[in-house]
Amino acid sequence: MNLLQKSIISYSSYYIKKQLEKKFILKNDVMIEKQASKDTMLYIHIPFCHTFCTYCSFHKFAYEESKCKQYFKILRKELELLHSLGYSFNTLYVGGGTTLINEEELLITLQLCKKLFPIKEISCESDPNHIDENKLQMFKGYIDRLSCGVQSFNDDILEKTSRLAKFGNSKQLIKKLEKAIGILPTFSIDLIFNFPFENEEILLNNINIAKSLNPEQITFYPLMKSNITKKAIAAKFGQGAKDNEYLFYKIICDEFSDYKQNNAWSFSKNKNSFNDEYVSTHHEYIGAGSGAFSFQNNKLLINAFCLDEYEKLINTKQNANISYIDFTNEDVIDYVFLSEFFSGSVDINKLNKAYNCDIIKHLGINYKALEFLNITNTKNNIINTTFFARYLALVLMKEFYINMDKLREHFKKAINQ
Ligand SMILES: C[S@@+](CC[C@H](N)C(=O)[O-])C[C@H]1O[C@@H](n2cnc3c(N)ncnc32)[C@H](O)[C@@H]1O
Ligand code: SF4
Repeated sequence: MNLLQKSIISYSSYYIKKQLEKKFILKNDVMIEKQASKDTMLYIHIPFCHTFCTYCSFHKFAYEESKCKQYFKILRKELELLHSLGYSFNTLYVGGGTTLINEEELLITLQLCKKLFPIKEISCESDPNHIDENKLQMFKGYIDRLSCGVQSFNDDILEKTSRLAKFGNSKQLIKKLEKAIGILPTFSIDLIFNFPFENEEILLNNINIAKSLNPEQITFYPLMKSNITKKAIAAKFGQGAKDNEYLFYKIICDEFSDYKQNNAWSFSKNKNSFNDEYVSTHHEYIGAGSGAFSFQNNKLLINAFCLDEYEKLINTKQNANISYIDFTNEDVIDYVFLSEFFSGSVDINKLNKAYNCDIIKHLGINYKALEFLNITNTKNNIINTTFFARYLALVLMKEFYINMDKLREHFKKAINQ
């Protein structure tokens, strides 16, 4: 990167951080509005894992079968409540934690979702211990896309992320993946790049193994270090002297030039809008489950993080929201622009029509700078992205997620987690 590019990246990261800090004003008088929108997506959170990984800030608890079964029971109650409020969803994204941690309970829940809502697509996340062929067969006709966290095929990194003992070494992971890929329509391998001290050799080895396994999708997340995880990452890895994010991203994009890019960090054999970034493909979504976020009508709503509170709220108030943040129309347009930019191009007319705005005017000097510096180029009312623009989008989305972790941090502290 040259000096100008470095300045653009630093300025943009700082800008989004400050913007989000200003917006995060939590309000507690929660009321969910009934709104049966056709294109709304349903997100379900399964907050359980057997053990925890060094870098992971997602909302989760240690798995206990009885706790998990009770959780699924309450979750299904919440889904029935959403249905009775008039909600209708065509897409379901199940995230975690480990969504397949109790396959039987998950299957009953997916069956209920299909009965209640006209759901056409279901995506789930798993770890490598829950992709057993026989278990996956149970989900045929239910799960359309399964992403499996692998993170790295390097045993040293697996050990430092606390995943080696839990999920096996590189050879064992490859064996598990070989058996699982192909059972469900789309299988995605999730990897993380830019761990401290990761070198080009490790990165290229990860790319080559992932490609040779031939899944439909491969997602390469840049390592995100938020307040919740940065100490643990530094304790296990130490502080890398050099940040290789840009260099490694360039290598990844070059190595995946024969793939379609779904967004800044996801690659498919065929272009697929159904990827891990539900936030970027669906601008409005409703979250069910403990710690789930919903975004609708300019509001980010937050469900109770504490499992007992979640259960109590569903049973007494029939609504698990404990807090919300208000956003202005301008904020929503910024957010929609970021997610479209992250997906690779922005259709000006479509965005103007959907949000009754003039996006070019809205972006003002930022748009002029992007075009003047040849970071984007607009043709036929489509803002097209260059390689550097995609890297910029990756940095901005990473910053967005790191800042979302500040909310998780706040609610985790509130329940002494
Ligand atoms: C919510 S996790 C669930 C995956 C599953 N439980 C597992 O561990 O295999 C989904 C994916 O997000 C990515 N992820 C989680 N924390 C991350 C971080 N700090 N930086 C980059 N990617 C991260 C990982 O690739 C992970 O597989
Ligand atoms: S990465 Fe997956 S298994 Fe590890 S703690 Fe996070 S959700 Fe759990």
